[in-house]
Amino acid sequence: LHTLPPLQLAHKYFQLFPEQRNPLWQNPCDDKRHKDIWSKEKTCDRLPKFMVVGPQKTGTTALYLFLLMHPSISSNFPSPKTYEEVQFFNTNNYHKGIDWYMEFFPVPSNVSTDFLFEKSANYFPSEESPRRAAALLPKAKIITLLINPSDRAYSWYQHQRAHEDHAALRFTFYDVISARQGAPAELRSLQSRCLIPGLYATHLERWLTYYPANQVRTVTDTQLNFIVLVCILIHSIYTSIQILHFDPQKGFWCQLLEGGKTKCLGKSKGRKYPPMEPEARAYLSRYYREHNVELSKLLHRLGQPLPSWLREELQKVS
Ligand code: A3P
Repeated sequence: LHTLPPLQLAHKYFQLFPEQRNPLWQNPCDDKRHKDIWSKEKTCDRLPKFMVVGPQKTGTTALYLFLLMHPSISSNFPSPKTYEEVQFFNTNNYHKGIDWYMEFFPVPSNVSTDFLFEKSANYFPSEESPRRAAALLPKAKIITLLINPSDRAYSWYQHQRAHEDHAALRFTFYDVISARQGAPAELRSLQSRCLIPGLYATHLERWLTYYPANQVRTVTDTQLNFIVLVCILIHSIYTSIQILHFDPQKGFWCQLLEGGKTKCLGKSKGRKYPPMEPEARAYLSRYYREHNVELSKLLHRLGQPLPSWLREELQKVS
């Protein structure tokens, strides 16, 4: 029997099995062989039970903050680079391994009643995330927020302008969404980042390849408000304390603090900008038409209700 020093042995191994160069982390406690060699000081409980996966600009931060008001729900510690989002499954952070990921989560005081969750809005359209998430968190519930993709695209464009993205400042929204092949590379890149997350049916199907349908939940903007109302109701029944308040100036639900003051999400959420031009809206309705039809079929198959915006868009089809 021949062997080699560890480093050379590893090189040899990956020469023989190049497809294994990309890791796919699994929960060490789900496999007896892994559990047996897993350090006694470590736990497998510092992993989320559910994930809010996005897409960006659909109200993910509001949902994240409202969920955190529940005493049994906690999320990851902030990342110095990406703030409340860990961005593990969709980036090279994945290669830092599961110890790196688990360090972001507190040790739950009661594993059965405490709910850890993660919100990373870029997971939804990412090619890699569903496969990787399902390998590590096969039992997790996946929550995605589906607002009208046209409004999502416009909100995202305004977000880029607010962050002084060069192309977003230079080109109008219509220029961005209608750019054709041969347009400047920065415009085409902005266009795909603006439009692709809104291809909801395609992304949902990818999540459904790896997760059973009963673990994938879609929430619409009206349901988000409904969730908020239910939270307020349950909370006020148990504590007689009102925790959320609809702020007419902000136009959104905000946290009600002691002393009657309200704390709304920061300036970057619920921005004020002009309404979308009718020409752009019509273009996007046409652009997303087939995808919206596919989404309606998919939601029907899943037995999930159609959002009101989707009904309206489908009526434009006929
Ligand atoms: P706009 O700023 O374009 O209006 P995300 O957190 O996923 O980036 O989404 C941001 C969007 O959440 C905001 O987009 C806003 O429309 C929506 N939103 C939903 N509820 C909100 C709330 N309570 N406060 C602020 N924004 C909220």
